[in-house]
Amino acid sequence: MSQNRYYVTTPIYYVNGSPHLGHAYTSVLADAVARYQRQKGVDCRLLTGTDEHGQKVQEAAQREMRKPKDHCDIMSQQWKELADLLNISYSRFIRTTDIDHVQTVQNALSQLHAAGDIYSDDFTGWYSVAAERFWTEKDLVNGKCPDTLTPVIRLTEKSWFFRMSNYKERLISHIESHPEFIQPVSRRNEVLGFLAKDLGDLCISRPKSRMSWGIELPFDSDYVTYVWFDALLNYVSGADGYWPADVHFVGKDILMTHAIYWSTMLLALNRALPKTIIAHGWWVTAQGEKMSKSIGNVIDVKELADCVGVDGLRYFFLNESDLGLDGIFSKDRLVSCYNVNVVNTYSNFVHRTTSMALKWFDGKVPLYAEWTSAEEALEQLAKDVILSVDKDMSQFRMKQALSRIQGLVDAGNKYIEEQLPWSLAKEGKKERLSTVVRCLLEIVQITSVLQLFVMPVGCKQALDRITKSPVCLTDLIVCAREQKNVLKLLDEESVIVHGEPIFLRI
Ligand code: MSP
Repeated sequence: MSQNRYYVTTPIYYVNGSPHLGHAYTSVLADAVARYQRQKGVDCRLLTGTDEHGQKVQEAAQREMRKPKDHCDIMSQQWKELADLLNISYSRFIRTTDIDHVQTVQNALSQLHAAGDIYSDDFTGWYSVAAERFWTEKDLVNGKCPDTLTPVIRLTEKSWFFRMSNYKERLISHIESHPEFIQPVSRRNEVLGFLAKDLGDLCISRPKSRMSWGIELPFDSDYVTYVWFDALLNYVSGADGYWPADVHFVGKDILMTHAIYWSTMLLALNRALPKTIIAHGWWVTAQGEKMSKSIGNVIDVKELADCVGVDGLRYFFLNESDLGLDGIFSKDRLVSCYNVNVVNTYSNFVHRTTSMALKWFDGKVPLYAEWTSAEEALEQLAKDVILSVDKDMSQFRMKQALSRIQGLVDAGNKYIEEQLPWSLAKEGKKERLSTVVRCLLEIVQITSVLQLFVMPVGCKQALDRITKSPVCLTDLIVCAREQKNVLKLLDEESVIVHGEPIFLRI
């Protein structure tokens, strides 16, 4: 094993709104990677949580007539419930109002201030009195505030800036010499394109007179910290000794803040950069519209989980999206993916196989009596699948990994059709039957172990049906790599137990 510690993060979610499908997706991606790493015996930390400061949260709290912190407590709970519902195996659920995080942010600010990387200057921009905020020139609608359509005024106020521009060249050379740093490659090019233009310094303060819901600057008590500067540092506050992160999963809309603000902050703080930042695409409607709260076309995750189950929803997320590209979401696609892949292919295979073992072998693991070219071919396929899944997972290609595993389940189903175990039983060909059922049980074990990262509940149930001591993923990989037989790994003392089909068709 090359590395024994691994650190994965999700973005931290804004508590000014409620969770929806898009948020669930980012978390499931990160969780899949974390679970796979842990299955390989790696000590993996997964961090998720909520982003609780800033103007939008302050406004949302005001609307609800709550104190900001009370509002955050209520909303953060919803996000935690979402993570629990989706079986996100987080090591910590961090909140930016947590004391240790506030301390991390203030320490980072003091360090940068002492090093001369933070300075104060006058900031001039278009200020809307009605909306109580600055807008950039391009935000304005006919020269007016886009939110309230009232006039804006040119206002100058003192602000604090982070010398982001000082780190531009180092960042560019890091991106160029580390092709794995920003993925997929199209996004990496976007970031490089952006950096080729002028990169200014970053305003990291907000005057308390306008917006007080934030972390106070340790060197100027009239100001709080800009919410992104605060939020990004959660990855360090919650690292618990695991820094640098192996992978940050983020949506494409927040790639620039991660690739540029975050990276330059880390360079200035003399900390290692994360190994990889992955920007995934969006879930869009059939009309190509992003699903978002502001557009009002979001779908409740609970409703979807009630329909196809949490495992089914997780499967859909990973199987129907190509990392980096947008994915079209519709309930029909969700149900069809579930019925075809999860129920018809996998669950039926498990059920048919365990039924045969119960019916003809009294729930005992049958022994191999012979080894023909049919078993030989399956064995070779199983090895190839194990190794390619491992490679895909190490490069975050979940969709490809799942399709390889489906290929192995398909081959198992085909083997049943070709070997005709019912005829073998009728004709009393007990030895051949033994081999066929044993081989099928082995494929149930392998495909269930391989899919634990996506369907942790259902695949565990499938494994419980066939053995108390399933093979571990590391052993599977080692056997496949060393060209040992992977179809002989089921514990022969196991007892097959009866059960209803694990997933039911809708
Ligand atoms: N709070 C910031 C992140 C700070 S990280 C230091 C934030 N929060 S968010 O709640 O608005 O969004 C969190 C994630 O959800 C983002 O990665 C975003 O891309 C993702 N999604 C929101 N809607 C989405 C879709 N329709 N589809 C896929 N993911 C999208 O940004």
